[in-house]
Amino acid sequence: MSNNIKYYNKNFDKYIKESINADMSLLYNEFEKYLKKNASILDLGCGSGRDSLYFSNKGFNVTSLDGSIKMIDYLKSKLKNEIVFSVFEEYKTEKKFDGIWACASLLHVKKENMKDIILKYIDLLSINGIFFMSFKLRNKDFEKDGRVFTCFSEDSFKILLSEFLNIEIIKIIVTNDVRRNRENEKWISVIIKRIK
Ligand SMILES: C[S@@+](CC[C@H](N)C(=O)[O-])C[C@H]1O[C@@H](n2cnc3c(N)ncnc32)[C@H](O)[C@@H]1O
Repeated sequence: MSNNIKYYNKNFDKYIKESINADMSLLYNEFEKYLKKNASILDLGCGSGRDSLYFSNKGFNVTSLDGSIKMIDYLKSKLKNEIVFSVFEEYKTEKKFDGIWACASLLHVKKENMKDIILKYIDLLSINGIFFMSFKLRNKDFEKDGRVFTCFSEDSFKILLSEFLNIEIIKIIVTNDVRRNRENEKWISVIIKRIK
């Protein structure tokens, strides 16, 4: 088990309290406008299930995935949609999703593995499917409490995306952290579309 997952198993209640009320409405709007009614969404690294619940309540067909068993146990008491206990690297499915929502989750993938993981999830999108992912906007990766944080600037993320031949960049959005006392942290959110 990775140190990232160990951290979330140990600190799941603290993390849930800190993140569950974050106001994600700006980013929801940016993502949802590309999805049809009843579209399927994979909430990748869903944590507290805050966003899964929001998307389910909007009528989307949600699959919530997380690699922390403690998060999964909590989600089972809360969500009615499909819940998958898996790490990003091991998830296998025959399904194709209309949208993938990876909010502050792929940032725990090591930089050297990022291309392969993003490619894997682009493959799980239907053609014209939309992929949202967000990272801390920093020039350097770092480690905190045993967790790996892979960071990007707008330019470094564009360089990574230029390696994918079947996507189009829809939008890059820079925001401040919406959690209390974290307002100085900036995030880069990227929406891409699978075009072939
Ligand atoms: C920073 S939290 C973000 C949670 C949620 N998306 C949010 O925005 O509040 C990262 C989540 O990703 C999960 N995670 C980290 N690495 C993972 C991996 N390799 N596979 C599956 N889940 C992972 C953690 O368990 C945690 O719930």
